[in-house]
Amino acid sequence: MPGETNLQGPNLAGIIGQPIAAQDDFDYSLAMRDLAARERVWSEALLDRFTAEPETVAPRTSMQFHGIDDPAERADLIAYLRSIPRP
Ligand code: HEM
Repeated sequence: MPGETNLQGPNLAGIIGQPIAAQDDFDYSLAMRDLAARERVWSEALLDRFTAEPETVAPRTSMQFHGIDDPAERADLIAYLRSIPRP
């Protein structure tokens, strides 16, 4: 839910276009902070690569999610993320 904290992962409401690893109330891994130094913001293209293979885009990320193979499924997911308003 927008504004909710203390989840298993960071809040993804309004994530597209937002800076990477930038929520004050979430303790990101070094992997995610390294990605932020390289890429700065969550573009749709980066989200597509990250949801395909999180470990490849952010090696040693603490996100326990192995990725989604099907490009159409990832496109649906990104469309869903686009639809959730920022808190
Ligand atoms: C479709 C499913 C998922 C998507 C689209 C997704 C997306 C993301 C994104 C974009 C970030 C970076 C957020 C930011 O920069 O603020 C992130 C981080 C994270 N997510 Fe996920 N996630 C998914 C599933 C999961 C699941 C299932 C878990 C755990 C049960 C999880 C746990 C985390 C954690 C712990 C982080 C921080 C990673 C780190 O600091 O290395 N995510 N996720």
